[in-house]
Amino acid sequence: MAAKKKKTAKKGGTAKKAAKPAFRFRLTARGPASVAGKQLRGGCPRKLLDPIEIASRDEIASLQTRRLKATLALAYRNVPLYRQKFDAAGVHPSDFRNLEDLAKFPFTTKDDLRRAYPFGMFAMPREKCVRIHASSGTTGKPTVVGYSRNDIANWASLVARSIRASGGLPGDLLHVAYGYGLFTGGLGAHYGGEALGCTVIPMSGGQTEKQVQLIADFRPQLIMVTPSYMLAIADEFEKQGLDPRKSSLLVGIHGAEPWTDSMRREIEERFAMDAVDIYGLSEVMGPGVANECVETKDGPTIWEDHFYPEIVDPATGSALADGVSGELAFTTLTKEAFPVIRYRTRDLTTLLPGTARTMRRMARITGRSDDMMIVRGVNVFPTQVEELILKDPRLSPHYVLELRRDDRLDTLEIVVEPKPERADDAEGLRQAAALLAQNVKAYIGVSAGVRIAGVGQVARSIGKAKRVIDLRPKD
Ligand code: DLL
Repeated sequence: MAAKKKKTAKKGGTAKKAAKPAFRFRLTARGPASVAGKQLRGGCPRKLLDPIEIASRDEIASLQTRRLKATLALAYRNVPLYRQKFDAAGVHPSDFRNLEDLAKFPFTTKDDLRRAYPFGMFAMPREKCVRIHASSGTTGKPTVVGYSRNDIANWASLVARSIRASGGLPGDLLHVAYGYGLFTGGLGAHYGGEALGCTVIPMSGGQTEKQVQLIADFRPQLIMVTPSYMLAIADEFEKQGLDPRKSSLLVGIHGAEPWTDSMRREIEERFAMDAVDIYGLSEVMGPGVANECVETKDGPTIWEDHFYPEIVDPATGSALADGVSGELAFTTLTKEAFPVIRYRTRDLTTLLPGTARTMRRMARITGRSDDMMIVRGVNVFPTQVEELILKDPRLSPHYVLELRRDDRLDTLEIVVEPKPERADDAEGLRQAAALLAQNVKAYIGVSAGVRIAGVGQVARSIGKAKRVIDLRPKD
C-alpha cells in the first residue's frame, strides 16, 4: 500500500507534492473541553510531536525499508532459529528490497518463541541485555523477551509519545496501576512516564482501597490501568462515599485486554475524563506499540517508525489489504536484543489510514483468535457480548461467560451483575435478562442463557479480566 502510494507520488512529480497527506490533520479538532467543572485536555500541540509522527507516507516508507533491511540481517546473523527458517523458505535478507518483499519471509509464532525458551531467540549475548520480561500465557512455558539498553530507551520514548498522544503533559502526576514485574504493563508505563517528564506513582495493581486513597490524596491527572480494573476502582470510590467524577483524573490510558466503545463511555462518564486505548504485547515490546490520539479517539495509531504491521488471513497466512479484517502481524524495526519477524499476534483487527497522525491506525481489537468461542458452530467474542450488555442501563460491565457441555451440546451462559442502583428492581432485571438473551440471538446468532448475579458476585480482576470460564470437560 505504502509502495503503491509512492509510485503514484513519483508520477505526480516532486517529493513535496507527494508529501501532501490524503487526509486532514485534526490536531486541533478537539481543544480542551470542560466536563463536570474539569478542564479536559485537547490534542497534543504540534510542536511537541516527534517530527516522524506527521512525516509524509514516503518518508515513513523509506525509513521502514531501511530499518527492515537491518532487522532481517540482524535476525539472520544472530538468531539460529531465524537462519534456519529463512534457509528452509529459500529466502535471504538480501532478497528484501522493498516493503512488498517482506511477504516472502516466514512468520514467527508463539510456539517458535516457546521452543527457544528461555533465551534462544536473543540476538545479542544475554549479558548485554539489561532487562527481561515474560508473558505467562494460559498454558505451558512463558515467552521470555530481552531488552538492550537502547531497546529500553526506545520503549520509554514510545510510551512517552503514547502518553502525550493521550493528552498527558510533562509535569503531570501519573498513577500507574498496571502490575509491576515480569508483565510489561507496570514498568513499561513507568519508564514512559518518566521519559515524558511526569511524576510517576508506581502503585501497581491490587489494594483497591489504597488506589482510591492515593488518587484522592495525590490528585494525579493521569492514570494507566486495565479498563476492567478502572471500573473496580470506580466502584471502590463509590463504596468510600467519594464521587469519581470529582476526582482529579483527566485522562485514563487503558489497554492490555480487549474493551469496547461502550466500556469507554462508561469509564468516561463515571470519571468525567477522557479514556484512550493503548495497545502492545510483550513479544513485540510491551505497552506503547500503538496508542490512540485523544483528539480523535478512533483506534490506536501504530508507531510505524518502530513496528511494521501487516494483516494476514488467520487461516492461510496470506496478506490482506488495509481495511480488511484479519490477524495482526508485526516486524520490529529497531529492536536489538529481541527482533521479531512477522510475529503472529493472534489479535484480530483492521489497518486504517492515519487521521491525527500520518501513521496508520488499527481498529479496536475485536478479540484474539484464541479467545474466540465457537458455540454450536457460531464464532463468539466476549467483546460482542459486552457491547450488548452495556446497551442496557440496568446492567453493569461486570460479566463472565460460562461455557458448559450438556448432552454433547455446548451451552453459553452470560453471568452479569446489575448496576447497584438497579439491584432491587427484580422485574426490570428479569426483563433485562430476557432482552439480552434476545439480542445475543439476534446480533451474534447464538442462544445463550442469562443469569443476573448479585452485586459484587462476579470476581473483579486487578489486571487483565478473565471473561470466559470454560467448564466443558477436557477431552
Ligand atoms: O498486555 C502489554 C500492555 C500492557 C498493553 C499495558 C497495554 C497496556 P501481554 O501481556 O504480552 O502484553 O499481552 C498482549 O494483550 O496480544 C492483546 O491480545 C492484548 N491487548 C493488549 N493491549 C490491548 C488493547 C500487554 N488495547 C496481549 N486492546 C495482546 C485489546 C489488547 N487487547
